Amino acid sequence: MTVQKIKDNVYFVGAIHWDRRLFDELIPLPDGTTYNSYLIKGSKKTALIDAADPAKENELLSNLRNLGVKKLDYLISNHAEQDHSGVISRIVELYPETKIVTNEKCKDFLRELLLIPEDKFYIIKDGDELSLGNKTLKFIFTPWVHWPETMVTYLIEDRILFSCDFFGSHYATSSIFAKEGEKLLEDAKRYYAEIMMPFRKTIVKNIEKISVLDIDIIAPSHGPLYKNPSFIINAYKEWISDDVKNEVLIPYVSMHGSTERMVEYFIDLLVNKGIEVKPFNLSKTDIGELAMALVDAATIVIASPMVLAGAHPAAVYAAFLVNALRPKTRFLSIIGSYGWGGKFVEQLKSLLSNLNAEFIEPVIVKGYPKEKDFKALENLADKILEKHKQLKIV
Ligand code: FEO
Repeated sequence: MTVQKIKDNVYFVGAIHWDRRLFDELIPLPDGTTYNSYLIKGSKKTALIDAADPAKENELLSNLRNLGVKKLDYLISNHAEQDHSGVISRIVELYPETKIVTNEKCKDFLRELLLIPEDKFYIIKDGDELSLGNKTLKFIFTPWVHWPETMVTYLIEDRILFSCDFFGSHYATSSIFAKEGEKLLEDAKRYYAEIMMPFRKTIVKNIEKISVLDIDIIAPSHGPLYKNPSFIINAYKEWISDDVKNEVLIPYVSMHGSTERMVEYFIDLLVNKGIEVKPFNLSKTDIGELAMALVDAATIVIASPMVLAGAHPAAVYAAFLVNALRPKTRFLSIIGSYGWGGKFVEQLKSLLSNLNAEFIEPVIVKGYPKEKDFKALENLADKILEKHKQLKIV
């Protein structure tokens, strides 16, 4: 990706990873991603905000060369994870005068992760400012979006907030200011669900902290920039709120059709009651889609057959993932079928212990579902409707 001017003497110098399809060896990236870095030329000093993933070292370095950067005074490290810090060691080699400006916690991470010597750092505190001459950077600590050391940098004169992962999206596009519409919102929501959702309570405080700033542009380090900051801030406010939607997610897996028949029947029951249903066949599903659906749903019903006296491994994986992402789900249940016995309800329940959700009696059947089993599913659907009515979301 070529250099792009954002405002006078403020440039996008990052890289686009068009064909990256997996992040952290876990998260599918249907739209690739970007590692945004920004160069700010003040009248006295020059600063780079965030580096890039080592896979895109050449693009970042070539952008700096193309802008004629001979001396780099500061490298601001908002976050130590390697997709934003991986190229720091190389930059320090090429620009030996550079001071890495960051907080104490981030310094400790960078020293451990990248083996950077102590004397390369300039440590700042929450609220500190750094003058580049006619431009001033202000550092605001925003812990747990999504690591303990994460912070954002505010360019006071240009009213740009460099937010790193916070408000980011895995969305590779050649337009650094993408249209603030459904597509961008979907990618930002997917991103929120995958790494920010477990910290939604902390995000409330971080949003309050940045709300006092007069922001023209939010410039994250993944995905497009926002010219209308309230577009993404309001979306975050909705996602982190305690509000849930009249939706039931059904992550399911079936081996020989019994659990699948239960799921089909159950879906129809819920739909007929006016509840939106989102089934996810775990043998095929994109876990990013599942994560995104977890942001709003009032209820999750996991469906699994019994395998070797326990839940199917795909259901175990889904339960573990849901538990790690800590959605604001209010109700949980389990349905499924067994042949000769086992304890998958207890197993799945224990895997979901992080969730602050009410457990509704499960429906577990022997073999293929029969009349009484369909009746039990009807009771479960009734209970879910009643619970949703109590929340006034129906
Ligand atoms: Fe984009 Fe937490 O790194």
